[in-house]
Amino acid sequence: MELNTTTDAIEQLSADWLLVPVFDGVDASKLQLPESATAAISGAIEAEDITGSKGQLTTIYASEPEHISRLMTVGLGPADAVSVSTVREAFGAAAKTIASKPGQAVAVLSPQNNALGHDAFATSMCDGMTVGCFGQDVYRAERKLHAIRELTLVGDGFGSHARAAREGKALGDSVNLTRDLVNRMPQEINPMGFAKRAEKVSAELGLKCRVFEQAELESERMNSMLAVSKGSSAPPCMVVVEYNGGKNDGKEIAFVGKGVTFDSGGLSLKPNDGMKTMKCDMAGAATVLGAVVAAARLKLPVNVIGFMGLVENMPGAAAFKLGDVLTARNGKTIEVLNTDAEGRLVLADVLSYAVDRGADQIIDLATLTGACVVALGEDVTGAFTNNQEWCDSVLAAAKSAEEGIWQLPMFELYDKLLDGTVSDIKNVGPRWGGAITAAKFLEHFVGETPWVHLDIAGPSFADSPKPHVDGGASGCMVRTLVKVAENFGTA
Ligand code: BES
Ligand code: MN
Ligand code: ZN
Repeated sequence: MELNTTTDAIEQLSADWLLVPVFDGVDASKLQLPESATAAISGAIEAEDITGSKGQLTTIYASEPEHISRLMTVGLGPADAVSVSTVREAFGAAAKTIASKPGQAVAVLSPQNNALGHDAFATSMCDGMTVGCFGQDVYRAERKLHAIRELTLVGDGFGSHARAAREGKALGDSVNLTRDLVNRMPQEINPMGFAKRAEKVSAELGLKCRVFEQAELESERMNSMLAVSKGSSAPPCMVVVEYNGGKNDGKEIAFVGKGVTFDSGGLSLKPNDGMKTMKCDMAGAATVLGAVVAAARLKLPVNVIGFMGLVENMPGAAAFKLGDVLTARNGKTIEVLNTDAEGRLVLADVLSYAVDRGADQIIDLATLTGACVVALGEDVTGAFTNNQEWCDSVLAAAKSAEEGIWQLPMFELYDKLLDGTVSDIKNVGPRWGGAITAAKFLEHFVGETPWVHLDIAGPSFADSPKPHVDGGASGCMVRTLVKVAENFGTA
């Protein structure tokens, strides 16, 4: 998608579409459109086909502007209540509609004054549109969604907001990187397949990228993570990607991601229905990569380091077994009582590595538990912490990115639920409170470092499409991590 801005009059532009932002109580005469377009929109308002309500899209054919084939009004609700997710979703839906045809050129009229202001509006709009026209076409001969060829922001208001627009596109492209990695089949995005993509995008952006292969993981004593990988013929790896936009001796924020490129459950094999979407079990790692890439594209003044633990969980002949006792990198012993509780075994070692690397603050992301989906539903991320202040800043970032998140408790009373019979801890608790006991397990591997765990098992992958975005991977929490990094940079 080529991005342009112009202050030329719309009569001078040629495009396949002109998008016209409209709010509650829309008045056609105030849109500053040519006469015939004003009349057509006026008629549609009278017929109540255009009301300005949130997410309403109406296509209008008019003889003017002369070189623009059609107009589409994009409803945004009340102007004084418009928010980043309103704009993202309304324009995402518009882009998704337009993207059914290839090579479309789209112009967008500046919005009237509203609660967001032109900068934030342009950013959210370009973010939403970039994400809206990209979906699950990875292996289709005929695409259902085609990238928009050209997007032009028109008018005095918008014309000077090219930078904000570019930032929105950079954000959307990063969300799409995460979505693409998750949507690809597990045969392609196995641990080394993921690492190759990470190396490629790192080279493009000048990021430091290191891939720790099996032998190095062994010498790092990452036996907990390695145990998960034993039943698979695909070798494991850990990818570490660094973006240093901050001071040399500045603080460093670490993102840690669960990258189980396929979770069969191992010997505790999942039933077919539970396994169908388990290519998504590397969404945590893909989110980490998307966020570090976004920080680099946005040139944030901050040091960010991403750690991605990549393994395949399979029930091969060499698979780890129930009753096995693993010695994690930090020396704790773990009794395996369910090989399907594998994500925490991977994160245990990657977290301890991140802590020893000297990370100042950590956020981990993982499709960790079905229990979190039971607790919070499919659209909300669960948050867990050992440090309320750090958690508050993550919650605030999610709030400003308008992504759903809810904190769950980490009371001490949960600790004993993980006591091992012959080991320090076991890898599963009892049936109830499963999202919390999983987080409690991870807490054993972060020491005193301020840490927030985000369980994205619900929101990271959708079975069906939404008006503003295709189904499959959502790229949730990339925007939140970018906000965290922005705030961290200015702290
Ligand atoms: N990857 C799954 C969790 C998951 C479930 C992700 C649904 C996305 C959607 C994880 O490895 C898992 O299998 N967790 C088990 C833990 C249990 C064995 C304690 C679960 O949630 O059932
Ligand atoms: Mn599992
Ligand atoms: Zn898993």
